[in-house]
Amino acid sequence: MKEYWDNRYQDEGFIWGDKPSSTAQYATVLFLENHVQTVLVPGAGYGRNAKLLSDSFEVDAIELSPKAVLLARKMDNKTNYIEGSLFDLLPNDKKYNAIYCYDLLHLFTQLDRRRIIEACMGQLDRDGVYYFTCFSNEDAAFGIGEEIEENTFEYKKGKIAHFFNKEDLEDHFKNSEIIETGTINEYLEYSNRSTRVYKLRYIFGKKR
Ligand SMILES: C[S@@+](CC[C@H](N)C(=O)[O-])C[C@H]1O[C@@H](n2cnc3c(N)ncnc32)[C@H](O)[C@@H]1O
Repeated sequence: MKEYWDNRYQDEGFIWGDKPSSTAQYATVLFLENHVQTVLVPGAGYGRNAKLLSDSFEVDAIELSPKAVLLARKMDNKTNYIEGSLFDLLPNDKKYNAIYCYDLLHLFTQLDRRRIIEACMGQLDRDGVYYFTCFSNEDAAFGIGEEIEENTFEYKKGKIAHFFNKEDLEDHFKNSEIIETGTINEYLEYSNRSTRVYKLRYIFGKKR
């Protein structure tokens, strides 16, 4: 995983452009309504979403790829970027009011997805809130490649993705208070100017 992402950031730089996802804007609104001051961003990439969040909150961001962390620190001097795997860095003693996690969860098989959610919940304060996004089963890439677990496909060589339906997403977060779920069309322009619309799901909730 580390080699894959490092190579991509090395070759493509700001892979998905430098603008934040609309989900980071929406999460900001939800976090402000919930009096959030501190946010953890696991799998932050080169920080296009953490940067927006750091305009309103104190943000720590965890990222596996050293190349991405280098890019992130250049464009965002407010977020505290921590290089390493969240599996090694979490749990730790620091608690946050909120977690924003964009398109990380679907990169893992079931056991690791559950581990990530448990680890993230462990970092939240009492009443802390979370906002996660992930691939939807309505995305055009659903069903491509070998199915290695239910709704999880090796859609590129050596790269898997899990495609969530609503019930599946809610089941992953069943130990929390789910406040809202939904789908969005994420329009992305890649660094080589090609474009793609992704169907994503999001979930917003509160630690129970
Ligand atoms: C699809 S990208 C999303 C990047 C970012 N969230 C964004 O909004 O642009 C997934 C990111 O998760 C990172 N990642 C993968 N496994 C990780 C892990 N175990 N710990 C921390 N980051 C990880 C990858 O290096 C990559 O930057």
